[in-house]
Amino acid sequence: MLLRASLVKEPPHFAPAADCVRIHASPMLDPAKNKLLTSVGRGTPMGDLLRRYWMPIAALSEFDSQSIKPVRLMGEDLTLYKDMSGTFGLVDRHCPHRCADMSYGFVEQCGLRCNYHGWLFDRDGRCLEQPYEDVAQPEAGFRDKIRIKAYPVESTGGLIWAYLGPQPAPLVPNWEPFTWKNGFVQIVFADVPCNWLQCQENSVDPLHFEWMHMNWSVRLKDKGGPYSPRHLKLAFEEFDYGIVYRRIREGMSEQDPMWKVGRVCLWPNALFTGDHFEWRVPIDDENTLSVTWCFSRVPKDREPYVQEQIPAWRGPVREADTGRLISSHVMNQDFVAWVGQGTIPDRTHEHLGTSDAGIIMMRQRFLKDIEAIARGEDPKATIRDPEVNRCISLPIADRKNLTEGQTLEEIAKHPLGGGQLSDYVFQAGQPREVREAYAKAMGLPE
Ligand code: FES
Ligand SMILES: [Fe+2]
Repeated sequence: MLLRASLVKEPPHFAPAADCVRIHASPMLDPAKNKLLTSVGRGTPMGDLLRRYWMPIAALSEFDSQSIKPVRLMGEDLTLYKDMSGTFGLVDRHCPHRCADMSYGFVEQCGLRCNYHGWLFDRDGRCLEQPYEDVAQPEAGFRDKIRIKAYPVESTGGLIWAYLGPQPAPLVPNWEPFTWKNGFVQIVFADVPCNWLQCQENSVDPLHFEWMHMNWSVRLKDKGGPYSPRHLKLAFEEFDYGIVYRRIREGMSEQDPMWKVGRVCLWPNALFTGDHFEWRVPIDDENTLSVTWCFSRVPKDREPYVQEQIPAWRGPVREADTGRLISSHVMNQDFVAWVGQGTIPDRTHEHLGTSDAGIIMMRQRFLKDIEAIARGEDPKATIRDPEVNRCISLPIADRKNLTEGQTLEEIAKHPLGGGQLSDYVFQAGQPREVREAYAKAMGLPE
Protein backbone atom coordinates (compact mmCIF):
# COMPACT_ATOMS: atom_id res chain seq x y z
CA MET A 1 0.00 0.00 0.00
CA LEU A 2 1.63 3.21 -1.15
CA LEU A 3 0.13 6.56 -0.48
CA ARG A 4 1.52 9.79 -1.84
CA ALA A 5 0.92 13.18 -0.37
CA SER A 6 2.44 15.71 -2.67
CA LEU A 7 2.74 19.44 -2.59
CA VAL A 8 3.37 19.40 -6.33
CA LYS A 9 0.44 18.48 -8.50
CA GLU A 10 0.28 14.74 -9.13
CA PRO A 11 0.18 13.72 -12.77
CA PRO A 12 -3.39 13.20 -13.97
CA HIS A 13 -2.98 9.44 -14.13
CA PHE A 14 -2.32 9.20 -10.41
CA ALA A 15 -5.13 7.55 -8.57
CA PRO A 16 -4.79 6.17 -5.06
CA ALA A 17 -5.18 2.45 -4.74
CA ALA A 18 -8.52 1.32 -3.41
CA ASP A 19 -7.12 0.44 -0.01
CA CYS A 20 -5.36 3.77 0.39
CA VAL A 21 -6.32 5.96 3.25
CA ARG A 22 -8.40 8.92 2.15
CA ILE A 23 -6.28 11.95 2.75
CA HIS A 24 -8.50 14.76 1.62
CA ALA A 25 -11.38 15.95 3.76
CA SER A 26 -10.51 13.14 6.15
CA PRO A 27 -13.02 12.71 8.92
CA MET A 28 -11.94 14.17 12.23
CA LEU A 29 -11.39 11.66 14.95
CA ASP A 30 -14.56 11.52 17.02
CA PRO A 31 -14.32 11.74 20.82
CA ALA A 32 -14.94 8.01 21.30
CA LYS A 33 -12.16 7.00 18.92
CA ASN A 34 -9.82 9.56 20.43
CA LYS A 35 -10.43 8.06 23.86
CA LEU A 36 -10.11 4.55 22.50
CA LEU A 37 -6.71 5.23 20.87
CA THR A 38 -5.27 7.10 23.84
CA SER A 39 -6.36 4.91 26.77
CA VAL A 40 -3.63 2.48 27.79
CA GLY A 41 -4.99 0.87 30.96
CA ARG A 42 -5.51 -2.87 31.27
CA GLY A 43 -8.88 -3.84 29.85
CA THR A 44 -9.07 -0.94 27.42
CA PRO A 45 -8.90 -1.92 23.72
CA MET A 46 -5.72 0.03 22.99
CA GLY A 47 -4.18 -0.92 26.33
CA ASP A 48 -4.75 -4.56 25.51
CA LEU A 49 -3.31 -4.08 22.01
CA LEU A 50 -0.17 -2.40 23.34
CA ARG A 51 0.22 -5.23 25.85
CA ARG A 52 0.87 -7.56 22.89
CA TYR A 53 4.29 -5.93 22.45
CA TRP A 54 7.48 -5.87 24.50
CA MET A 55 8.20 -2.41 25.89
CA PRO A 56 11.65 -1.04 26.82
CA ILE A 57 11.46 0.13 30.42
CA ALA A 58 15.05 0.51 31.63
CA ALA A 59 18.70 0.04 30.71
CA LEU A 60 20.82 -2.89 31.80
CA SER A 61 23.58 -0.58 32.99
CA GLU A 62 21.22 1.13 35.45
CA PHE A 63 21.50 -2.08 37.45
CA ASP A 64 25.27 -1.79 37.84
CA SER A 65 24.64 0.58 40.73
CA GLN A 66 21.20 -0.43 42.01
CA SER A 67 19.15 -3.59 42.29
CA ILE A 68 15.60 -2.22 42.41
CA LYS A 69 13.76 0.39 40.38
CA PRO A 70 10.09 1.39 40.57
CA VAL A 71 8.48 1.63 37.16
CA ARG A 72 5.06 2.61 35.93
CA LEU A 73 3.97 1.09 32.64
CA MET A 74 0.61 1.50 30.94
CA GLY A 75 -0.98 2.59 34.18
CA GLU A 76 0.45 -0.30 36.24
CA ASP A 77 2.80 0.41 39.12
CA LEU A 78 5.53 -2.20 39.17
CA THR A 79 8.91 -3.00 40.67
CA LEU A 80 11.82 -4.01 38.47
CA TYR A 81 14.68 -5.79 40.20
CA LYS A 82 17.85 -7.75 39.57
CA ASP A 83 18.38 -10.42 42.20
CA MET A 84 21.73 -11.61 43.55
CA SER A 85 21.90 -14.36 40.94
CA GLY A 86 21.65 -11.68 38.22
CA THR A 87 18.07 -12.57 37.26
CA PHE A 88 15.68 -9.74 36.46
CA GLY A 89 12.10 -9.72 37.66
CA LEU A 90 9.13 -7.37 37.34
CA VAL A 91 6.48 -7.62 40.02
CA ASP A 92 3.65 -5.58 41.46
CA ARG A 93 4.62 -2.41 43.26
CA HIS A 94 2.60 -3.55 46.26
CA CYS A 95 3.03 -6.64 48.37
CA PRO A 96 0.05 -9.01 48.45
CA HIS A 97 0.37 -9.28 52.26
CA ARG A 98 -0.52 -5.75 53.34
CA CYS A 99 0.42 -3.66 50.34
CA ALA A 100 3.87 -2.41 51.34
CA ASP A 101 5.95 -0.84 48.60
CA MET A 102 8.06 -3.59 47.04
CA SER A 103 10.45 -1.03 45.53
CA TYR A 104 11.78 -0.59 49.10
CA GLY A 105 12.28 -4.32 49.45
CA PHE A 106 15.59 -6.10 49.08
CA VAL A 107 16.83 -8.70 46.67
CA GLU A 108 17.93 -12.20 47.63
CA GLN A 109 19.83 -14.88 45.76
CA CYS A 110 16.51 -15.67 44.13
CA GLY A 111 13.82 -13.02 44.04
CA LEU A 112 12.68 -9.91 45.87
CA ARG A 113 11.78 -9.74 49.56
CA CYS A 114 9.27 -7.30 50.99
CA ASN A 115 10.88 -5.17 53.69
CA TYR A 116 7.76 -5.07 55.92
CA HIS A 117 7.35 -8.69 57.07
CA GLY A 118 9.83 -10.46 54.84
CA TRP A 119 7.68 -12.29 52.32
CA LEU A 120 9.87 -13.40 49.43
CA PHE A 121 8.74 -13.68 45.79
CA ASP A 122 10.41 -15.07 42.69
CA ARG A 123 10.28 -13.70 39.15
CA ASP A 124 7.24 -15.81 38.33
CA GLY A 125 5.32 -14.30 41.24
CA ARG A 126 5.48 -17.36 43.50
CA CYS A 127 5.75 -16.70 47.22
CA LEU A 128 8.86 -18.58 48.35
CA GLU A 129 8.89 -17.57 52.01
CA GLN A 130 6.61 -16.13 54.66
CA PRO A 131 9.06 -16.10 57.57
CA TYR A 132 6.54 -16.05 60.42
CA GLU A 133 3.83 -18.18 58.82
CA ASP A 134 6.43 -20.75 57.80
CA VAL A 135 7.27 -21.20 61.51
CA ALA A 136 3.84 -20.72 63.09
CA GLN A 137 1.76 -22.73 60.69
CA PRO A 138 4.00 -24.62 58.29
CA GLU A 139 1.34 -27.19 57.52
CA ALA A 140 -1.17 -24.56 56.31
CA GLY A 141 0.63 -24.00 53.00
CA PHE A 142 -0.43 -20.37 53.12
CA ARG A 143 2.37 -19.24 50.87
CA ASP A 144 1.35 -21.66 48.15
CA LYS A 145 -1.93 -19.75 47.90
CA ILE A 146 -0.21 -16.38 47.45
CA ARG A 147 1.09 -14.87 44.25
CA ILE A 148 2.30 -11.42 43.42
CA LYS A 149 1.54 -10.04 39.96
CA ALA A 150 4.64 -10.74 37.85
CA TYR A 151 5.54 -10.08 34.23
CA PRO A 152 8.34 -11.45 32.06
CA VAL A 153 11.39 -9.30 31.42
CA GLU A 154 14.24 -9.81 28.99
CA SER A 155 17.31 -7.88 27.94
CA THR A 156 18.27 -7.09 24.36
CA GLY A 157 20.39 -4.27 22.99
CA GLY A 158 21.33 -3.12 26.49
CA LEU A 159 17.66 -2.45 27.24
CA ILE A 160 15.34 -4.26 29.62
CA TRP A 161 12.02 -5.14 28.04
CA ALA A 162 8.75 -5.99 29.72
CA TYR A 163 5.76 -7.89 28.38
CA LEU A 164 2.38 -7.33 30.02
CA GLY A 165 0.22 -9.29 27.59
CA PRO A 166 -1.24 -12.75 27.35
CA GLN A 167 0.90 -15.85 26.91
CA PRO A 168 2.46 -17.14 24.82
CA ALA A 169 4.54 -13.99 24.59
CA PRO A 170 6.05 -13.11 21.21
CA LEU A 171 9.81 -12.66 20.88
CA VAL A 172 11.61 -9.49 21.83
CA PRO A 173 12.47 -8.09 18.38
CA ASN A 174 16.13 -8.44 17.57
CA TRP A 175 16.37 -5.40 15.33
CA GLU A 176 19.35 -5.40 13.03
CA PRO A 177 21.22 -2.52 14.72
CA PHE A 178 21.31 -4.51 17.97
CA THR A 179 23.64 -6.94 16.15
CA TRP A 180 26.01 -4.29 14.79
CA LYS A 181 29.59 -4.13 15.96
CA ASN A 182 32.09 -1.28 16.28
CA GLY A 183 29.58 1.16 17.69
CA PHE A 184 29.26 3.35 20.74
CA VAL A 185 25.68 3.05 21.98
CA GLN A 186 23.97 5.23 24.56
CA ILE A 187 20.47 4.95 25.97
CA VAL A 188 18.64 8.14 26.85
CA PHE A 189 15.42 8.59 28.78
CA ALA A 190 13.04 11.50 29.26
CA ASP A 191 9.77 11.80 31.11
CA VAL A 192 7.34 13.53 28.79
CA PRO A 193 4.11 14.76 30.40
CA CYS A 194 1.58 13.82 27.73
CA ASN A 195 -0.18 10.85 26.18
CA TRP A 196 1.95 8.44 24.11
CA LEU A 197 -0.11 8.61 20.89
CA GLN A 198 0.79 12.14 19.85
CA CYS A 199 4.44 11.21 20.47
CA GLN A 200 4.12 8.24 18.14
CA GLU A 201 2.19 10.23 15.55
CA ASN A 202 5.34 12.34 15.34
CA SER A 203 7.16 9.19 14.12
CA VAL A 204 5.24 9.35 10.85
CA ASP A 205 5.32 13.13 10.37
CA PRO A 206 8.30 13.92 8.11
CA LEU A 207 7.18 17.47 7.39
CA HIS A 208 7.88 18.67 10.92
CA PHE A 209 11.60 18.12 10.30
CA GLU A 210 11.64 21.14 7.98
CA TRP A 211 9.82 23.48 10.34
CA MET A 212 10.37 22.30 13.88
CA HIS A 213 13.98 21.15 13.59
CA MET A 214 15.39 23.20 10.74
CA ASN A 215 13.57 26.51 10.40
CA TRP A 216 12.70 26.97 14.07
CA SER A 217 16.34 26.28 14.96
CA VAL A 218 17.36 29.04 12.55
CA ARG A 219 15.03 31.46 14.30
CA LEU A 220 16.05 30.30 17.77
CA LYS A 221 19.56 31.40 16.86
CA ASP A 222 18.20 34.86 16.08
CA LYS A 223 18.83 34.35 12.41
CA GLY A 224 16.36 35.20 9.69
CA GLY A 225 17.58 32.44 7.41
CA PRO A 226 18.40 30.74 5.26
CA TYR A 227 15.52 28.35 5.74
CA SER A 228 15.67 24.66 4.97
CA PRO A 229 14.85 23.26 1.51
CA ARG A 230 11.10 22.74 1.31
CA HIS A 231 9.41 19.37 1.18
CA LEU A 232 7.88 18.79 -2.24
CA LYS A 233 6.63 15.26 -2.05
CA LEU A 234 5.87 12.71 0.67
CA ALA A 235 4.96 9.05 0.47
CA PHE A 236 3.88 6.56 3.12
CA GLU A 237 3.97 2.80 2.74
CA GLU A 238 3.01 0.14 5.23
CA PHE A 239 5.39 -2.82 5.62
CA ASP A 240 5.71 -5.75 8.04
CA TYR A 241 7.21 -3.76 10.90
CA GLY A 242 5.68 -0.33 10.51
CA ILE A 243 5.26 2.46 7.98
CA VAL A 244 8.05 3.73 5.74
CA TYR A 245 7.93 7.41 4.95
CA ARG A 246 9.77 8.96 2.04
CA ARG A 247 10.46 12.56 1.20
CA ILE A 248 11.61 14.72 -1.67
CA ARG A 249 12.87 18.14 -0.72
CA GLU A 250 14.02 20.96 -2.97
CA GLY A 251 17.25 19.95 -4.67
CA MET A 252 16.68 16.22 -4.17
CA SER A 253 15.97 13.62 -6.82
CA GLU A 254 14.11 10.34 -6.59
CA GLN A 255 17.54 8.68 -6.38
CA ASP A 256 18.11 10.16 -2.93
CA PRO A 257 18.07 7.53 -0.14
CA MET A 258 15.46 9.60 1.70
CA TRP A 259 13.11 8.82 -1.19
CA LYS A 260 14.39 5.43 -2.33
CA VAL A 261 14.73 3.97 1.17
CA GLY A 262 13.09 6.42 3.55
CA ARG A 263 12.74 6.19 7.29
CA VAL A 264 10.61 4.08 9.56
CA CYS A 265 7.71 4.56 11.90
CA LEU A 266 8.40 1.32 13.78
CA TRP A 267 5.55 -0.69 15.21
CA PRO A 268 3.86 -0.03 17.48
CA ASN A 269 5.51 2.88 19.27
CA ALA A 270 8.86 3.89 17.85
CA LEU A 271 10.74 5.92 15.31
CA PHE A 272 13.73 4.33 13.59
CA THR A 273 16.05 6.57 11.61
CA GLY A 274 18.90 4.15 10.87
CA ASP A 275 21.29 4.97 13.68
CA HIS A 276 18.77 5.43 16.43
CA PHE A 277 15.47 4.22 17.80
CA GLU A 278 13.09 6.34 19.81
CA TRP A 279 10.38 4.49 21.67
CA ARG A 280 7.39 6.32 23.11
CA VAL A 281 6.50 4.08 26.04
CA PRO A 282 3.16 4.77 27.70
CA ILE A 283 3.60 5.32 31.42
CA ASP A 284 -0.12 5.99 31.74
CA ASP A 285 -2.72 7.96 29.80
CA GLU A 286 -1.02 11.25 30.61
CA ASN A 287 2.69 10.45 30.64
CA THR A 288 5.19 8.91 28.27
CA LEU A 289 8.69 7.57 28.78
CA SER A 290 10.89 8.53 25.85
CA VAL A 291 13.58 5.89 25.32
CA THR A 292 16.34 6.50 22.78
CA TRP A 293 18.90 3.91 21.66
CA CYS A 294 21.58 5.77 19.74
CA PHE A 295 24.36 4.07 17.78
CA SER A 296 27.50 5.93 16.73
CA ARG A 297 29.77 3.92 14.47
CA VAL A 298 33.36 4.51 15.52
CA PRO A 299 35.86 5.64 12.85
CA LYS A 300 37.47 2.87 10.84
CA ASP A 301 40.86 3.32 12.46
CA ARG A 302 39.28 2.64 15.88
CA GLU A 303 38.15 -0.83 14.87
CA PRO A 304 37.82 -3.36 16.29
CA TYR A 305 35.92 -1.56 19.03
CA VAL A 306 34.03 -3.41 21.74
CA GLN A 307 31.87 -1.34 24.08
CA GLU A 308 32.18 -2.61 27.63
CA GLN A 309 29.02 -0.98 28.94
CA ILE A 310 26.14 0.88 27.28
CA PRO A 311 25.65 4.03 29.36
CA ALA A 312 22.17 5.29 30.15
CA TRP A 313 21.12 8.75 31.21
CA ARG A 314 17.99 10.79 31.77
CA GLY A 315 17.67 14.25 30.26
CA PRO A 316 15.60 17.12 31.61
CA VAL A 317 12.56 18.29 29.70
CA ARG A 318 12.19 21.76 31.20
CA GLU A 319 14.61 24.63 31.82
CA ALA A 320 15.53 24.71 35.50
CA ASP A 321 15.14 28.47 35.86
CA THR A 322 12.03 29.25 33.82
CA GLY A 323 10.13 25.97 33.75
CA ARG A 324 9.77 26.38 29.98
CA LEU A 325 10.34 23.35 27.79
CA ILE A 326 13.92 23.03 26.54
CA SER A 327 14.22 23.75 22.81
CA SER A 328 17.95 23.43 22.10
CA HIS A 329 18.11 19.77 20.98
CA VAL A 330 16.27 17.73 18.37
CA MET A 331 14.13 15.59 20.60
CA ASN A 332 13.53 18.38 23.06
CA GLN A 333 11.99 20.25 20.15
CA ASP A 334 9.77 17.24 19.54
CA PHE A 335 8.80 17.29 23.22
CA VAL A 336 7.73 20.92 22.77
CA ALA A 337 5.35 19.80 20.03
CA TRP A 338 3.98 16.81 21.92
CA VAL A 339 3.45 18.52 25.26
CA GLY A 340 2.12 21.58 23.50
CA GLN A 341 -0.64 19.54 21.87
CA GLY A 342 -2.15 19.04 25.32
CA THR A 343 -1.96 16.18 27.78
CA ILE A 344 -4.43 14.26 25.63
CA PRO A 345 -5.19 16.36 22.54
CA ASP A 346 -8.77 16.87 21.53
CA ARG A 347 -8.46 15.43 18.04
CA THR A 348 -11.97 16.54 17.14
CA HIS A 349 -10.36 19.96 16.58
CA GLU A 350 -7.83 18.72 14.03
CA HIS A 351 -7.76 19.62 10.35
CA LEU A 352 -5.62 16.97 8.74
CA GLY A 353 -3.93 17.70 5.43
CA THR A 354 -2.06 15.64 2.89
CA SER A 355 1.08 15.66 5.02
CA ASP A 356 -0.84 13.78 7.70
CA ALA A 357 -1.54 10.75 5.54
CA GLY A 358 0.81 8.54 7.56
CA ILE A 359 -0.92 9.51 10.79
CA ILE A 360 -4.27 8.46 9.37
CA MET A 361 -2.73 5.22 8.15
CA MET A 362 -1.33 4.53 11.60
CA ARG A 363 -4.60 5.19 13.42
CA GLN A 364 -6.47 2.95 10.99
CA ARG A 365 -4.01 0.12 11.50
CA PHE A 366 -4.39 0.37 15.27
CA LEU A 367 -8.18 0.29 14.93
CA LYS A 368 -7.95 -2.76 12.64
CA ASP A 369 -5.58 -4.51 15.03
CA ILE A 370 -7.91 -3.91 17.97
CA GLU A 371 -10.43 -5.91 15.94
CA ALA A 372 -7.76 -8.49 15.03
CA ILE A 373 -6.87 -9.31 18.63
CA ALA A 374 -10.58 -9.51 19.48
CA ARG A 375 -10.76 -12.25 16.82
CA GLY A 376 -7.84 -14.03 18.48
CA GLU A 377 -5.29 -13.02 15.85
CA ASP A 378 -1.84 -11.56 16.33
CA PRO A 379 -1.54 -7.82 15.63
CA LYS A 380 0.91 -6.28 13.17
CA ALA A 381 4.65 -6.85 13.75
CA THR A 382 4.27 -9.74 16.16
CA ILE A 383 7.43 -11.84 15.93
CA ARG A 384 7.26 -15.49 16.93
CA ASP A 385 9.70 -17.23 14.58
CA PRO A 386 13.19 -17.50 16.13
CA GLU A 387 14.71 -17.85 12.68
CA VAL A 388 13.18 -14.53 11.59
CA ASN A 389 14.29 -12.98 14.87
CA ARG A 390 17.97 -13.85 14.42
CA CYS A 391 18.33 -10.40 12.86
CA ILE A 392 15.42 -8.31 11.61
CA SER A 393 16.47 -6.09 8.77
CA LEU A 394 14.89 -2.64 8.47
CA PRO A 395 15.03 0.07 5.78
CA ILE A 396 18.18 2.09 6.47
CA ALA A 397 18.98 5.04 4.23
CA ASP A 398 22.56 5.32 5.50
CA ARG A 399 23.19 1.57 5.63
CA LYS A 400 26.61 1.51 3.96
CA ASN A 401 28.19 3.99 6.36
CA LEU A 402 26.66 2.36 9.42
CA THR A 403 27.64 -1.19 8.52
CA GLU A 404 30.95 -0.59 6.75
CA GLY A 405 32.19 2.42 8.64
CA GLN A 406 33.86 5.70 7.67
CA THR A 407 37.02 7.55 8.55
CA LEU A 408 36.77 10.32 11.11
CA GLU A 409 37.14 12.85 8.29
CA GLU A 410 34.25 11.28 6.43
CA ILE A 411 32.08 11.26 9.56
CA ALA A 412 32.88 14.94 10.12
CA LYS A 413 31.73 15.77 6.60
CA HIS A 414 28.58 13.64 6.78
CA PRO A 415 25.43 15.81 6.88
CA LEU A 416 23.87 13.71 9.65
CA GLY A 417 26.85 12.33 11.55
CA GLY A 418 29.16 15.32 11.54
CA GLY A 419 27.27 17.44 14.05
CA GLN A 420 27.37 14.70 16.63
CA LEU A 421 31.14 14.84 16.93
CA SER A 422 30.90 18.14 18.80
CA ASP A 423 27.70 17.56 20.77
CA TYR A 424 25.00 14.98 21.41
CA VAL A 425 22.45 16.68 19.22
CA PHE A 426 19.36 14.68 20.09
CA GLN A 427 18.69 15.54 23.70
CA ALA A 428 19.86 18.05 26.29
CA GLY A 429 21.63 17.01 29.44
CA GLN A 430 24.21 14.43 28.38
CA PRO A 431 26.41 13.78 31.44
CA ARG A 432 30.08 14.61 31.13
CA GLU A 433 31.17 11.01 31.70
CA VAL A 434 29.04 9.81 28.78
CA ARG A 435 30.49 12.52 26.56
CA GLU A 436 33.99 11.49 27.62
CA ALA A 437 33.28 7.81 26.93
CA TYR A 438 31.92 8.76 23.49
CA ALA A 439 34.96 10.94 22.73
CA LYS A 440 37.29 8.14 23.77
CA ALA A 441 35.46 5.60 21.60
CA MET A 442 35.55 7.94 18.62
CA GLY A 443 39.19 8.89 19.13
CA LEU A 444 38.36 12.58 19.65
CA PRO A 445 40.63 14.86 21.68
CA GLU A 446 39.43 14.99 25.31
S1 FES B 1 3.37 -6.16 53.60
FE1 FES B 1 4.88 -7.30 52.55
S2 FES B 1 5.42 -8.85 53.92
FE2 FES B 1 3.90 -7.77 54.93
FE1 LIG C 1 11.28 15.41 15.34
